[in-house]
Amino acid sequence: MPSARIAVIGAGAVGGYFAARAAAAGAEVWLCVRRAFDRLVIVSTGADGGDVEAEVPAEVVTDPAKLPPYGFDWVLLATKAHQIPAVAPWLTAAVGPGTSVAVLQNGVRHAERVAAFAHPDQVLPAVVYINAEAERPGVVRHRAGGVLQVPDVLLAERLAERVLTAGEVRLTEDFATAAWTKLCVNSAANTVTTLTGRRLEVLRRDDVAQLALAIMKEAVAVARADGAEVPDGLPEFTVRRLRGQPPGAGTSMLYDRLAGRRLEHEALIGAVVRIGAEYGVPTPTCVTVLPLLAAISDG
Ligand SMILES: NC(=O)c1ccc[n+]([C@@H]2O[C@H](COP(=O)([O-])OP(=O)(O)OC[C@H]3O[C@@H](n4cnc5c(N)ncnc54)[C@H](OP(=O)(O)O)[C@@H]3O)[C@@H](O)[C@H]2O)c1
Repeated sequence: MPSARIAVIGAGAVGGYFAARAAAAGAEVWLCVRRAFDRLVIVSTGADGGDVEAEVPAEVVTDPAKLPPYGFDWVLLATKAHQIPAVAPWLTAAVGPGTSVAVLQNGVRHAERVAAFAHPDQVLPAVVYINAEAERPGVVRHRAGGVLQVPDVLLAERLAERVLTAGEVRLTEDFATAAWTKLCVNSAANTVTTLTGRRLEVLRRDDVAQLALAIMKEAVAVARADGAEVPDGLPEFTVRRLRGQPPGAGTSMLYDRLAGRRLEHEALIGAVVRIGAEYGVPTPTCVTVLPLLAAISDG
């Protein structure tokens, strides 16, 4: 089979890393960016503790009209969730009837986010497990991980065979539970760090830990109403785990706040409020903190 042709929309931390993995697997990679750079470099830590740089063979384009007209096998969508409207011209140009779209984002209901561009059968949602950061356009620091958890469907096998590897694309029979479990954690961890402007060490305060527990308990109730089998004790276990994180460890929404970028709050905690309302599950703590995050994002 010829190598896959893929477009990466959102060539930041996640998009840049998986673009590199796809190129390593032999794919023809097109990076769709708004701030031009000459080459994509993945920086990791070598055995001696120093930086190791790997250049990724890929085409970099800043104009959707410059994409090749012959169609893509895959689009890897790896913007933040709220940035999807801004990349609509890229999605329109890159997604054809034979294109599959992997949505590499946090949150739940990934296919709904791209419904205007792709039929649900074309969409593969993915829960991303990685620790990476875009240091500047074209430079991604990869710290750990690099696994996509995806539903056990035909598209997942195709992604594993043609774009990545089976080790990088992990199938789960219960994707809703996988996505909701991560969202329960993110809804609390990202919220308390972003509101306080502090790293995860802030959870060592008992009052902040109580707030995180309240957020997660609401998220768990909504997850269960939505059909996810989130494990018992997840909030308490998560708080204990987060309290033990190394000094300096933060969250993606905190990093966005510190960098003055808009926040992903609608996908991370707005979703709990919205989907809770659909099922009549009360989410008073999430409802209270959501406007604060929105105000920080606007500012
Ligand atoms: N980073 C992690 O370790 C990690 C781990 C798990 C899950 N996630 C999730 O993965 C998703 C992606 O996160 P990320 O950390 O990779 O974000 P990121 O580093 O901020 O990357 C997003 C990329 O999208 C680009 N973009 C935004 N608007 C665009 C536009 N109009 N045209 C072209 N490009 C545009 C940004 O370009 P600019 O540089 O020009 O802004 C940036 O390169 C999020 O849902 C996040 O929550 C991230």
